[in-house]
Formats: sequence, C-alpha cells, structure tokens
Amino acid sequence: MVVLGIETSCDETAASIVKNGKIVLSNSVKSSLIEHKKYGGVIPEIASRMHVEVIDYVIKDALNMAGTKLEDVDLIATTFEPGLPGSLLIGTSFAKAMSFALNLKLIKVNHVHAHLYAAFLEKPRPKLPSIGLVISGGHSSIFKISPSFKFQLLASTQDDAIGEAFDKVAKILGLSYPGGPMIEKLAKLGDENRFKFITSKNSNKDFSFSGIKTAVLYKVNELKHNKVNKKWLCDIAASFQREAVNIIVEKTIFNCLSRKINRLVVGGGVASNTYLRTKLKEKADMHKIKLHIPDKKLCLDNAAMVAGLGYHIYKERINK
Ligand code: KG4
Ligand code: ZN
Repeated sequence: MVVLGIETSCDETAASIVKNGKIVLSNSVKSSLIEHKKYGGVIPEIASRMHVEVIDYVIKDALNMAGTKLEDVDLIATTFEPGLPGSLLIGTSFAKAMSFALNLKLIKVNHVHAHLYAAFLEKPRPKLPSIGLVISGGHSSIFKISPSFKFQLLASTQDDAIGEAFDKVAKILGLSYPGGPMIEKLAKLGDENRFKFITSKNSNKDFSFSGIKTAVLYKVNELKHNKVNKKWLCDIAASFQREAVNIIVEKTIFNCLSRKINRLVVGGGVASNTYLRTKLKEKADMHKIKLHIPDKKLCLDNAAMVAGLGYHIYKERINK
C-alpha cells in the first residue's frame, strides 16, 4: 500500500511516500526557518504563508523522488494536531482536497505520536510494547506504546518543553534561533561541571525545565558585571545541557524500569543532540534496555513518520 504523508504543523512543509508503513521511497522537506531567524522564533503567519507557497511543489517533489504517480497513491495521511493552527489548516485543507479529487481515504495523524513512529522506519524495527520519549520544541512526553500503535501518556512537561528550554537559554546567551544546535556546538568547548543550575530534585512524575532556564538567566545577569567572554558562554551551555539531558535520561529510564519494559523509542528534534544520544545510550545499556533513536534526519519534522503511522491507523480501522 502506497501512502502519501503530509506534514505542516510548524515551519517545515513536508511530504513523503512510504510503502506498507515501512519503506521510505521519498522524504521531501522544505523549511521556512531562514524567514523566522531574524525574529528569534517561528512567526505563525509567516509559516502559514510559506506552506501555501511551497506545498504543491513539495508534494510533487516527493512523488518524483519516489518514482510514483498520483494514481499509484492508495492513501493520504496528514498531521492534524498539535501545531500552529494556521499551518495545520494548510496541510489538512490540501490533503482533504486531494482525497476528494482522487477519491482516496484520508487519515488524520497526531504529530507527537508520529515522532515516535520515525524509529519504526529503520531497522531493526522496535518491538512493542515500548516506552516512547518525544523531545521536541513543543513537547517533552513519555508514552507507553502498545501493540497496534496505541499511545498512553505517562508523563509530560509542567512548563517548557526541552527544545523550548534550549531555545530560551540560547536567546539568553545571545545566540540565534533555533537554539538547540547552537548550545550543542558551544557545549562541546565548555566545562559541563562549572555551574550548577538545579538546586532541588524534581520528584514529580512530570518534567519541568522553567527553573533551570531561570537559573541560567540569573547566572548570566550576575556574570555580565564582569567581562563577557567565550569561555563562560561555553561553560554555561555545557552545564545547562548536562543538567537538562540528565533530567530527560533519569525520568525516561525510571519509566522503563518501573513498567518493566526494556525497549525505548525516542523521537523529536532534540533527539538529534549527540550528547543526549550518548548519555541515553549509556544509561539504557547499563539497565539492558534496547534503545531505538532514528537517524537525525528522521528526528526532525518530516512526513515519512506521518505516512508510516497513517498506514497503521488505517489498517487498524479496516480490521475492526
Ligand atoms: O521536532 P522539531 O523539529 O519540531 C517540533 O515539533 O517542535 O524540534 C525542534 C526543536 C527546537 O526547539 C530545536 O532547538 C531543537 O528541536 N533541536 C535541538 C537540536 N536540534 C534541534 N535541541 C538540542 N540539540 C540539538 N542538536
Ligand atoms: Zn515535531
């Protein structure tokens, strides 16, 4: 079964052709990031306008790259939540019009769940049930993924998402948007043990990142009285990254152990962070948990994950 996936929840316009929920024939992504950079974050109206401009090109590109014609498509899957309302509207309207014109079924896919499906597009495919961790600009959530792809939310964030915390700390440090890759780059040159931002342990089941971000802000204001230098910028980035990643690793491994599930699937933009991938792998190996983190390209927003999950939702529906 050939599925066309469409993704427009934020600033990436993406389309992909995936066969039987497994084989990625094409994965076309056009980002409008450059248009948002000067504002220090994504501007919803600009994102929506860019989707309108490029969506038909991106879909054609995905079909061409896959060597597929529109007549070969059996199903359309599109992200319908969560995301920027205007951006989602462009993708879902386009998908609805296509499904009507081509007389094809349309499957609505949750963007956060789709991030977890990205790991199932690679080999070895994770077995189910698994624990799923989504770490992105809008979400820090832990799920139990049951067979037939049912997602049960186990933990989420009480305030900022981890990607949002990276972006806000980057802004405090005067770095450009998106902050995650910039922090990661500086952190490589810094001393991760120089600063302590967390003063108390969060024993709550959910994540919280606003305290650590505020602690960074206070430290930067304090240090600004001295001469600003690159060394302390790198040390702050490294110390923040160590503590933020530690929060993620500890809570995720705790959920695997307490639910006695020794498989962990990770997705979302922050999962492309090499430091996080290394730390999570170390801890997972220590507890004999099989870790599945997809290639960096599939961690970021894409439509292959939407097409893949859409296929399973459709199969589940017709089998009922
Ligand atoms: O999943 P994604 O592409 O979009 C959302 O659904 O939010 O994630 C974007 C987020 C941004 O906050 C960005 O700063 C963060 O992922 N990010 C990173 C890295 N690359 C992207 N955070 C930390 N380290 C990275 N290397
Ligand atoms: Zn995303």
